[in-house]
Amino acid sequence: MPIETRVRGAGGTVSRTAADLGAEVVAVPVRSGPVAPAAEVASGLPFTLDELLDLHRAKGEPGEITATQVRVGDRVRELLLYGVGDAEPADLRKAGAALARRGRGRTALVAGVPAGDLAAFVEGALLASYTFKIGSPSGKQPLATLAVLTEAGPEADAPAIERGTARAAAAALARDLANTPSGEKDPAWLAAEARRIAEGGGLTVRVRDERDLADGGFGGILAVGAGSARPPRLIEVSHIPDGTPDRHVVLVGKGITFDTGGLSLKPNEGMKTMKTDMAGGGVVLAVMSALRGLGVRARVTGLVAAAENMPSGSAMRPGDVIAHYGGTTSEVLNTDAEGRLVLADALAYADAELDPDVIVDVATLTGAAKVALGLRHGALFATDDALAAALTEAGARAGEPLWRLPLVDDYRPALDSDVADINNIGRGGYGAGSITAALFLREFVGGRSWAHLDIAGPGRATSDDAEITRGATGYGTRLLLDWLAPA
Ligand code: BES
Ligand code: MN
Ligand code: ZN
Repeated sequence: MPIETRVRGAGGTVSRTAADLGAEVVAVPVRSGPVAPAAEVASGLPFTLDELLDLHRAKGEPGEITATQVRVGDRVRELLLYGVGDAEPADLRKAGAALARRGRGRTALVAGVPAGDLAAFVEGALLASYTFKIGSPSGKQPLATLAVLTEAGPEADAPAIERGTARAAAAALARDLANTPSGEKDPAWLAAEARRIAEGGGLTVRVRDERDLADGGFGGILAVGAGSARPPRLIEVSHIPDGTPDRHVVLVGKGITFDTGGLSLKPNEGMKTMKTDMAGGGVVLAVMSALRGLGVRARVTGLVAAAENMPSGSAMRPGDVIAHYGGTTSEVLNTDAEGRLVLADALAYADAELDPDVIVDVATLTGAAKVALGLRHGALFATDDALAAALTEAGARAGEPLWRLPLVDDYRPALDSDVADINNIGRGGYGAGSITAALFLREFVGGRSWAHLDIAGPGRATSDDAEITRGATGYGTRLLLDWLAPA
């Protein structure tokens, strides 16, 4: 659901702005070390802010909040001393998130913000305000207005506020798409969402339905979708920049709208979160939605390979052989390794038809990536060191860290098939489930500059944490936007 919190720039003093907005809460930053903020709001208190911070052993760490009450103008308000650490982007993102959480249920919060990456502060605050609830809202409503005051002033702050807001809105869109229950969300629904997003974002869109897929030879997408009563789609969205594009980037997303495992059925424990198995496709659509607004100079094509992986009388079977786009055949040894089957078609299509300079795919591909790196780091594989470095740096800046894993050529025999060009799971004895999955995908990129982001771990969160909210996280949206549209 769209983020309800609105961020606005303000000028003058915290007290004046609080009075004007009727804000119940005011906040002033505390940097690391025993430095009290120069806060005119605190002038009436019978103690100094240093004494207060000292009492609570506050260290000014990002995320830390020390609260007191203070009279400002005609009424008593809550004063939050919030830690900003060294005011690095990551610190401000975390501080913004902490303030927004603390401001839940309030109409307005006025915050002094130190010099630094204001967009990161805004992004953190807005993403921490994200909610997804079908039915009557529970708990406290998100903070309605966050007014930010800096030395620079509202005019100078406007671009950073706009940028942070745009990035948060894109990440929230990715969360919404992935949080939507699969009863509502099938491949056709995702295609309709893509059309809506394209309209709002100045993009063109082409959707291939099951007949188009059959005519085009997209055997992987069709095979994975064959068990479902809701047919698959290949969604293609294009951003054509004004002027001559500097390069052509193709983003490919896994769009499994529900992953039961197919005939290789998952137990309920592993299945119940699988509405988020299109998180990669959601990220691709969310990134596409923001490109025009952020003035991205590259031509970008987004492909989402959408299918529902269901067991039924028409489902693909273990042992089936499918012919992918372009003719490569794969033997399906496990129908639960379906993501790579749909991605193979999209990657081969991108290579053969789109002439990209770079291909990046995003997918909740393997439980093994979650085992290796946990819930906060995405796994990165790449055929190009410079691309790997650029994505890693973008991830670090965006607060969506990546860790590169190797494409081990010695493990390639794990994918040898007796009857087809390749089989879809790593045979026993090799382990490294994320690596063998990446090696499978590599067969379809035609030697191009390519990176694969396995987001099975960070795509979902089991609890709120700073700007991350429980459920779908939108992980990958901000890192790809940082890569495509650096500040
Ligand atoms: N969608 C899953 C991967 C996944 C697991 C994502 C947990 C998020 C959380 C994928 O389609 C899958 O089932 N992969 C199998 C591959 C195996 C059969 C080779 C897996 O990881 O177990
Ligand atoms: Mn699966
Ligand atoms: Zn899956």
